[in-house]
Amino acid sequence: MKNLVDKLYETNILSKDEFIFLLENRNDEIRNYLAEKARSVSQSHFGNKLYVRGLIEFSNYCKNNCYYCGIRRGNKNCERYRLTKDEILQCCENGYELGFRTFVLQSGEDEFYSDDDIAEIVSGIKNKFPDCAVTLSLGEKSYEAYKKFFESGADRYLLRHETADNDHYKLLHPKSLSLENRKQCLYNLKDIGYQVGTGFMVGSPFQTNEHIAGDLMFIKDLNPQMVGIGPFIPHKDTMFAAEKAGTLELTTFLVSIIRLMLPSALIPATTAVGTIDVQGREKAILSGANVLMPNLSPIKVRKKYLLYDNKICTGEEAAECKNCLQSRTMSIGYEIIVDRGDYRP
Ligand code: 5AD
Ligand code: FES
Repeated sequence: MKNLVDKLYETNILSKDEFIFLLENRNDEIRNYLAEKARSVSQSHFGNKLYVRGLIEFSNYCKNNCYYCGIRRGNKNCERYRLTKDEILQCCENGYELGFRTFVLQSGEDEFYSDDDIAEIVSGIKNKFPDCAVTLSLGEKSYEAYKKFFESGADRYLLRHETADNDHYKLLHPKSLSLENRKQCLYNLKDIGYQVGTGFMVGSPFQTNEHIAGDLMFIKDLNPQMVGIGPFIPHKDTMFAAEKAGTLELTTFLVSIIRLMLPSALIPATTAVGTIDVQGREKAILSGANVLMPNLSPIKVRKKYLLYDNKICTGEEAAECKNCLQSRTMSIGYEIIVDRGDYRP
């Protein structure tokens, strides 16, 4: 087992069968060994410095109906909202003061905003904050739309593939969505020149170790600059309400594997991992994560952007989260810095 971790460390990849073997046979000894290696790789690239991204959840309208997601179109209990361009700029202003140099604009797949609207919001942010990076996370769009956003100044795009297995994909999504299109979007984004982030949920319904190994192989193939993974957490208004959440143990194990596969990748300690365990984000950092993505959305909409139950930080102001994260990360010997945090191979 240790040999497999050493091989992963040295070659940055294992075969699919080796990944499955590692997942099937993991124990405390191998967990610790893997986490230590991943942490040291992360520290050799980033030291004890952590990057922060300010997340602005600007609309929770969504035309899709993913079975796991709390803001799916079919959820009639979800109170919908949209932020205006001025409100979004106000969030950035607030974030800039707090030391954020990357803004992540995330929404459901909301057709209310035209491609030109989005481009205008992006260029508005870039004009006002030329030293900041803009990351988009708006779901699946056409090649032309992605290109327009890029030309208006967007630097990065987050689009998790969710699962790289076709049959599993169909168990999590309605017929209108396909893995093929999702992957095409990711390759389009790379082609256009974005720094691209992908990822998947850990412990999603029906997920097997084979699926996870397939996710790892897909990530290796795509070679993204960012990889976001977090535990699946059930949402009460979805068909998966009674399913079990993913575990902290498997999430941190996979953070470490991904760190060894992609030594200089940007890997967040996600809000979801902080939701399943009070120390989840700290543990993800100690397993090789190097990014935090606190929320900059106005307090009045925080409780409406619920992809899953019990989401943390829905009552805290951005400044409170910044302080909280500062002391949490200091307590484990890390430091949040003021930096765009671009990918450096
Ligand atoms: N639990 C955990 N993560 C979720 N996401 C959506 N719904 C859930 C859930 N119930 C994740 C998806 C999506 C990202 C924005 O949030 O992976 O890509
Ligand atoms: Fe939001 Fe701790 S990060 S309160």
